[in-house]
Amino acid sequence: MTGTTAQRGDPGLEGKRVLVTGGAGFIGGRLVTALLDAGAEVIVTDHHPHPDPAVKSVVGDLCDPEVRRTAVSAGLDGMVHLAAVTSVLRSIEDPGGVYRLNVEATADLLELCREREVPRVLFASTNAVTGDVGDTPISERLPLRPLTPYGATKAAAEMLLSAYTGVYGMQTCAVRFANVYGPGMRHKDSFVPRLMRAAASDGGVQVYGDGTQLRDYVHVDDIVQSLLLAWRTGRTGPLVVGSGSSTSVNELIETARTVTGAPIPVEYTPAKAGEMPAVVLDISEAHALGYRPHHDLRSGMATVWPEFAPVEVA
Ligand SMILES: NC(=O)c1ccc[n+]([C@@H]2O[C@H](COP(=O)([O-])OP(=O)(O)OC[C@H]3O[C@@H](n4cnc5c(N)ncnc54)[C@H](O)[C@@H]3O)[C@@H](O)[C@H]2O)c1
Repeated sequence: MTGTTAQRGDPGLEGKRVLVTGGAGFIGGRLVTALLDAGAEVIVTDHHPHPDPAVKSVVGDLCDPEVRRTAVSAGLDGMVHLAAVTSVLRSIEDPGGVYRLNVEATADLLELCREREVPRVLFASTNAVTGDVGDTPISERLPLRPLTPYGATKAAAEMLLSAYTGVYGMQTCAVRFANVYGPGMRHKDSFVPRLMRAAASDGGVQVYGDGTQLRDYVHVDDIVQSLLLAWRTGRTGPLVVGSGSSTSVNELIETARTVTGAPIPVEYTPAKAGEMPAVVLDISEAHALGYRPHHDLRSGMATVWPEFAPVEVA
């Protein structure tokens, strides 16, 4: 795999037994490949089995305590916890449901890791934990003031991780992802796949607000790179990860038009509650660990389009 800096014989990962929750998903699928490339032994737990039958999968609902107990087996070197309710809109419609997976199940997974002496936990968090700070760059040092149930559950889980490091000495790191895009997101409903579906079907997209809101879009391989770095360096605490440059939604649409060659007309609708007007990230701590994003938006979007582009009839 390119772009993830996983190397065969990686001393930090070779022979390590790593549980990846949500390992059949968008980011998880890509991470599992990188971990295998680095020589790790990977166990996936997810609603769905990992597509590669050679990867051991514990299939089931992580809200079920029995599934969690089976997944967190003794002898693991670490867990990367990615499974979550990932939709902000769904979290607003069903805050209780989101809490059960993103907080309750996470708390129990951490407890199982403590009991079974799993020394390391990486957690997929989000920059939405800091809430609206205007165009102030978001760093690890800002206080947590989430604006949605999704952000609140991620912030709550981060607090649990902090306690397990503080009291039990577990090496825990909450990697706070920006807006992630890349290959493997056909099942997703986030904005990049919406743009791709619109381009493929000669359709358009709806934009909440006027499209000037700033976001940091980061390629999935750069996120995988950051997770491997967090593992190798033994980083603890939060870590802000993104591309390090912010783009307006209108600029994103323009890039999608360039990459796909489709006109993608836009209908602007009122902004949703909890939407942040700007996300500007300070990725200097990740940079100091050696993180270097490889993709810009144009090269990154070009890796997504082939999975959506209509097949040419010869
Ligand atoms: N994609 C992004 O832009 C983004 C940004 C910030 C944070 N994150 C976080 O990264 C993580 C991975 O996100 P993704 O984009 O790969 O999402 P995804 O939906 O593609 O993957 C999540 C996986 O978790 C599994 N899962 C969900 N609920 C489960 C349950 N109850 N039991 C078992 N498995 C369950 C799903 O089947 C899926 O395979 C999530 O924690 C998400 O909150 C993602």
